[in-house]
Amino acid sequence: MALLIKNGEIITADSRTKADILCEGETITRIGAGLDAPAGAQVIDAAGKYVFPGFIDPHVHITLPFMGTYAKDTYETASKAALVGGTTTLIEMCCPARSDDTLKAFEEWMARAAGRSACDFTFHMGVSRFDAPTESHVREIVGRGISSLKIFLAYKGAFGVDDTELYRTLKLARELGLVVTAHCENETLIFERQKELVAAGKTDPGRHHESRPPRVEAEGVHHLMTFAELTGASTYIVHLSCREALEEALAARQRGVDVTIETLIQYLVLDKTWAERPGFEGAKYVMSPPLRDASNQPVLWNGLRDGLIQTVATDHAPFDFEGQKKMGISDFTKIPNGIPSLEERVNLLYTYGVKQGRIDLHAMVNAASTQVAKTFDLFPRKGTIQPGADADLVVFDPAYRGVISVKTQHMNVDYSAFEGWKIEGRPSVVTVRGEVAARDGKFVGDPARGRFLKRTPSRA
Ligand code: URP
Ligand code: ZN
Ligand code: ZN
Repeated sequence: MALLIKNGEIITADSRTKADILCEGETITRIGAGLDAPAGAQVIDAAGKYVFPGFIDPHVHITLPFMGTYAKDTYETASKAALVGGTTTLIEMCCPARSDDTLKAFEEWMARAAGRSACDFTFHMGVSRFDAPTESHVREIVGRGISSLKIFLAYKGAFGVDDTELYRTLKLARELGLVVTAHCENETLIFERQKELVAAGKTDPGRHHESRPPRVEAEGVHHLMTFAELTGASTYIVHLSCREALEEALAARQRGVDVTIETLIQYLVLDKTWAERPGFEGAKYVMSPPLRDASNQPVLWNGLRDGLIQTVATDHAPFDFEGQKKMGISDFTKIPNGIPSLEERVNLLYTYGVKQGRIDLHAMVNAASTQVAKTFDLFPRKGTIQPGADADLVVFDPAYRGVISVKTQHMNVDYSAFEGWKIEGRPSVVTVRGEVAARDGKFVGDPARGRFLKRTPSRA
């Protein structure tokens, strides 16, 4: 089956062209002016619209077991939400608990996704313990098509690794050519500060950020950077939220450390006052690292604009307000961490980034698609528009005006952190390898079209 997208303005990370795109089977086969539709081809008129490469979310949690509960989405719900919002590839964190068998965890995560996803997907393999079985499992998992790991320097007793494990994981990654993604916060500082706050009766959600101030994150980044420098491993800092952490990462990069930096859409558009909202409403905005003082937002936007920060993710971690966030009603340390945002990332980036002049269209495509594909061994199959690439395309309507609401979202969670926010522009047509999957806010595709993307390590 062929698909012809006519008259659109094609925007990639580094180019802007008015041209038609012909997709045959699963791939883009031709780009040019005035292309004729082959017999039987589906034709989409994209006049007045942008055509972007499918967006890639490099950091999501869909079914994460965490803090005594589970993230609420399934691949069925999350992949549809992703597609409606313009995201055509998901990279989920496969997060075994410290006591879990690594290979078994990988197989379980895979079983939850395979045949159940409407969009393509892959995983960062979590290493929450490093011993002989884990090492051999990681080697096996890399052979099955995984080229990145995930480690946590936070979450004491759950996912966090100690320094010996950190060192050995980075050495193994260096040997195998993997990228190590890392949650950087000093877990001891968090743990001690949480205990002090709770003992003082300071238990409301607004205390969450007091327990993990910017220096706690900066110390985590500094720590990872020291280990990366001495092992030569390629690293990727997930969810960087503040100036102090950015300065540590940039100083390491100056010294020659291989580090890629991710921030989140939440840190770009929300600040800590949202987590201080009265009546336990702030719990909806509890995530880690926490939302920061608003003075960090221009630092992050400018970092993106100037290429200091490479990617924008969501760290999508959906926990209901009723029944899940409320587990922490009398103790903020028990509020499951996460702000669901998978469906809204692209629209928020466009509305509050591009439309407000903070970044341009190319920086948006670069951070939410191209750099992700390049960093995680998916480029040029994903992350660009060129012959031979997968036909994952987003025909984006800049004239759309709407409002975000839990009532219309596809994410399986009982609130929207952006309820009532205005949106300017949204995906009009989204394709997955040449098939239309979403149209104007609705999923219309094949719910099982998504495939596991095998990746080959490139950092050796
Ligand atoms: O608050 C967050 N970020 N929740 C998800 C788990 C993680 O740390 O990425
Ligand atoms: Zn994290
Ligand atoms: Zn995460």
